[in-house]
Amino acid sequence: MSQKAIEGEIIWQENNCTACHQLYGLGGYLGPDLTNIISDPRKGPEYAKAFFNSGVKSMPLFNFSDDEKESLVQFLEHVDRTGYYPNRNAQFGADGWVTIEYK
Ligand code: HEC
Repeated sequence: MSQKAIEGEIIWQENNCTACHQLYGLGGYLGPDLTNIISDPRKGPEYAKAFFNSGVKSMPLFNFSDDEKESLVQFLEHVDRTGYYPNRNAQFGADGWVTIEYK
């Protein structure tokens, strides 16, 4: 993970984004899952950045600098590169193991 993505992960943790958002379906359920927000053709990095400081609905109003927003995007980009959520091509084996699709 790049230094910038690590900075983004720290911002993610310090601001408790997980209280309301999920990555891989894990986290709070007030806001949407953000695993694939960066590669989503209807969303993407600029869309995500617009939300960071918007204070919409029940999301708190943050005041991130452009640099912090870029770090958050790079963290989410890193997460996005690792897999899919929901994982629609998961295979359920007879032995009970589930094989999920990785990117
Ligand atoms: C108290 C709950 C809460 C916290 C904490 C929170 N959010 Fe949100 N967030 C929401 C809600 C609710 C929405 C949906 C708003 C809407 O659709 O109008 C949202 C929407 C978003 C979206 C747009 C998602 C989409 O697919 O449309 C992004 C990106 C986002 N939040 C990022 C973050 C980040 C990054 C943090 C931490 C710095 C964070 N949020 C912290 C509640 C929260």
